[in-house]
Amino acid sequence: MSLSVKDMHLNHLSAFGNPCSHCSLSIWTLNSLSLSISDIDISQIQTKFTPPSGQDPKNMPYDPSQPLLGQIGTSIASSLANFTIPSYASPYLDCVLLHSPLPTKEQTLAAWEILESYVPTRVHSLGISNCSLKQLQCLYEASTIKPSVVQNRFYPVTHFDVDIRAYCKEKGIVYQSFWTLTGNPALLQSSVVQAVAGQLYRLGVKEDTKQIALYALVLGLDGNICILNGTKDKDRMEGDWEGIRVLAKWIDNDDDGEAPEGQGKGQLQWKAWMAEFRELIEHGERMEGVGGQ
Ligand SMILES: NC(=O)c1ccc[n+]([C@@H]2O[C@H](COP(=O)([O-])OP(=O)(O)OC[C@H]3O[C@@H](n4cnc5c(N)ncnc54)[C@H](OP(=O)(O)O)[C@@H]3O)[C@@H](O)[C@H]2O)c1
Repeated sequence: MSLSVKDMHLNHLSAFGNPCSHCSLSIWTLNSLSLSISDIDISQIQTKFTPPSGQDPKNMPYDPSQPLLGQIGTSIASSLANFTIPSYASPYLDCVLLHSPLPTKEQTLAAWEILESYVPTRVHSLGISNCSLKQLQCLYEASTIKPSVVQNRFYPVTHFDVDIRAYCKEKGIVYQSFWTLTGNPALLQSSVVQAVAGQLYRLGVKEDTKQIALYALVLGLDGNICILNGTKDKDRMEGDWEGIRVLAKWIDNDDDGEAPEGQGKGQLQWKAWMAEFRELIEHGERMEGVGGQ
């Protein structure tokens, strides 16, 4: 279950070349922050259907012997019950993700078709997680309700999903990255991340500068990227936001006021850093990442 924060400083994302009004630096996760639904000003509710293969057999939210129709029905009913917001006239979920493709293409499409039957009333949009380009293309081509979201690990093992992100961009799908920090020890040590972190430090940001720098660079990659922020520390998450805000302000304002649009010192420096970062993840030697699915 993920929540986005209402005051997202969305304007600041444009400084990184991310004009998408649906995208955010971070989606707060209710479970990771140990908050209850009434504690947060909610603007988006996103949840997942996890097929039996991805469930903990000792803690199943539905009876795995049920047909898929029943499994998905139970799962969505429980999400609707858990995430009933008092101010909503009738409960709905903004987005439901298929947590992973099922073992066969036919099973995946069958699950998707069941999910589609909840759109648009109970569920507003659908997405898929942990998928390959081939699986995404197959789903996109065969479905009636097209995926709006792809949620994948952003790390070297999958070449940072360069191909999937390009496909998402072409089709207007939001790409939600996770493991952005966990999966990227080498990126966090890269010279471009260190350079942006140094700038953040000079701007007065004293903590988590490398993490914030990496977030900013990832956001700058595509207009449709959204980063899932996995911290359990509310202050840290707010610090991430503040760091992004400070950097964005510097990018837009660091010139003498005479420079043509997009040619200010901060903007030129940011473009150079983005070019270096893009080169690193698209064409760099295979970097050390954290493996596994
Ligand atoms: N679809 C899937 O299969 C799947 C799988 C895994 C996760 N997810 C989603 O992805 C979300 C993000 O989780 P993740 O594991 O991918 O997150 P992540 O960003 O890779 O890692 C977060 C970790 O980095 C640490 N951290 C250090 N500095 C940080 C900073 N400045 N900001 C944020 N974290 C910092 C956090 O520690 P502290 O907590 O101590 O701050 C936390 O342990 C999850 O909440 C979940 O919704 C999806």
